[in-house]
Amino acid sequence: HFKIEIFQIKILVSAGVLFLQAGKRPPGPALWWVSGDGNELVWNFSQLSELSQQAANVLSGACSLQRGDRVMMVLPRVPEWWLVTLGCMRAGLVFIPGTIQMRTKDILYRLQVSKARAIVAGDEVAQLVDTIASDCPSLKTKLLVSEKSRDGWLDFRTLLREASTTHCCVETGSQEAAAIYFTSGTTGLPKMAEHSHSITSCPKLLNMQPSDIIWVISDTAWILNILASFLEPWAVGACSFIHLLPKFDPVIILKVLSSYPINNFVGAPIIYQMLIQQDFPSYKFPHLQNCYSGGDALLPDILENWRARTGLDIRELYGQTETGITCRVSKNMKIKPGYLGTAIPHYDVQVLDDKGNVLPPGIEGDIGIRVKPIRPIGIFSGYVDSPEKTAASIRGDFWILGDRAIKDQDGYFRFIGRSDDIINSSGYRIGPSEVENALMEHPAVIETAVISSPDPVRKEVVKAFVVLAPQFLFHNLDQLTKELQQHVKSVTAPYKYPRKVEFVSELPKTNTGKIQRKKLRDKEWKTSRQPEAQ
Ligand SMILES: *[C@@H]1O[C@H](CO)[C@@H](O)[C@H](O)[C@H]1NC(C)=O
Ligand SMILES: *[C@@H]1O[C@H](CO)[C@@H](O)[C@H](O)[C@H]1NC(C)=O
Repeated sequence: HFKIEIFQIKILVSAGVLFLQAGKRPPGPALWWVSGDGNELVWNFSQLSELSQQAANVLSGACSLQRGDRVMMVLPRVPEWWLVTLGCMRAGLVFIPGTIQMRTKDILYRLQVSKARAIVAGDEVAQLVDTIASDCPSLKTKLLVSEKSRDGWLDFRTLLREASTTHCCVETGSQEAAAIYFTSGTTGLPKMAEHSHSITSCPKLLNMQPSDIIWVISDTAWILNILASFLEPWAVGACSFIHLLPKFDPVIILKVLSSYPINNFVGAPIIYQMLIQQDFPSYKFPHLQNCYSGGDALLPDILENWRARTGLDIRELYGQTETGITCRVSKNMKIKPGYLGTAIPHYDVQVLDDKGNVLPPGIEGDIGIRVKPIRPIGIFSGYVDSPEKTAASIRGDFWILGDRAIKDQDGYFRFIGRSDDIINSSGYRIGPSEVENALMEHPAVIETAVISSPDPVRKEVVKAFVVLAPQFLFHNLDQLTKELQQHVKSVTAPYKYPRKVEFVSELPKTNTGKIQRKKLRDKEWKTSRQPEAQ
């Protein structure tokens, strides 16, 4: 954890929960959920307040969880994700969101290192959990969100109905842990980024009004989800619109945007790109006003096309798991294509040189947030059990985000690129080592290095360089590629599988035997950008 303490504000309860308790609740909906197959559900703030108290009572009552206990939550976009999160905040439990795309191995690793006391999951994930639960001694409670019941699992929906609607909110301190997000790095396995309850006291970045309805398309495991579909709307009394969206289908998104009174929309740039490719004249968006992109840099091309089709701008939200929204183009700000916007009001964001000195406008360097002498609210507390990893990203007085940029005279940041190895494929952050570890399990693979490779649609995809074991050298390589891809999909989250595989006889290495991914990456991006030179 950081040494410097921020001034200790005692936040009685999280901002969102506070709102639910306040006397003057807006009459409009708080949560509007649509399944896509005919189910629809609307809760106003009174109902949400009651339900959140019931959820807290389920967690601290039937599940016997205690303040500070960790709860892993692996749910699709169902209303229960929002309820359990509220319940955890009320009861002082630390929630750990995970994506439903995880495979057994991913879940096992996360349960073991986090020592989670409880897991909340749907049917499919529950099946996987049952195969490994015996290897997770800390795991005491399994809570199922489903229509069916399951041996060894408590039934959340039944317990919720039976729970009392009064819960006495735990008075959490501003520095007390509220959430842990697993985040992939360049080296080693995913780290646990801990956020304190102070995360709940810095929303209102989107200037929403109580009458607004916001639709955020994000995996429930991403920090963007809690920031934009939970804290932002509920801190001002606006409505969060949620679509289950089990499969990503641009036609459904267009239909929903044209038929529901959604006026704020947030999605990764790839979503806009896929929408643009649809048959547009058949859709009108009478309500839509504010569009935001997050999770990845927005290409000026997408911005222009979206504007041409809808007359609307896309405003960028930039940040990372550790820092939350860091820069943004807010409603009243001028849009500069290719720029991330300016720093949010309580962050001092600068471009830095290798020594941590602030660089003047116009010079490229690393993006950093000032964390000394005062650490601003909203930034994470540190990596759990790993002060040395936290310290590794601090340079001088700044937290280094790992991206390169140039600041202009107006304080806008022009995004240049990543300064590390992380692969951002369709908005998912993929650490090469997780994919490499999965590949190494296959008997054909004796060595491998995973890097990003350019792709016209996804911008970046996972590519694996593989050194084959001698007995596989004469196999059909197309077939082997498919087999390796299938293998990665089966042992880890499918979005991590290498879309490209290249077989090589050796990998570039340093004297000390470390694989040089950077060499491979430089070559990959150079050759693919200039195919004529091949
Ligand atoms: C919220 O909805 C419930 C159930 O429909 C209703 O009884 C209640 O009056 C509503 N509250 C407000 C503040 O609109
Ligand atoms: C990758 O995605 C994360 C959000 O998931 C974002 O913070 C980061 O800036 C992205 N990096 C690049 C180089 O686009």
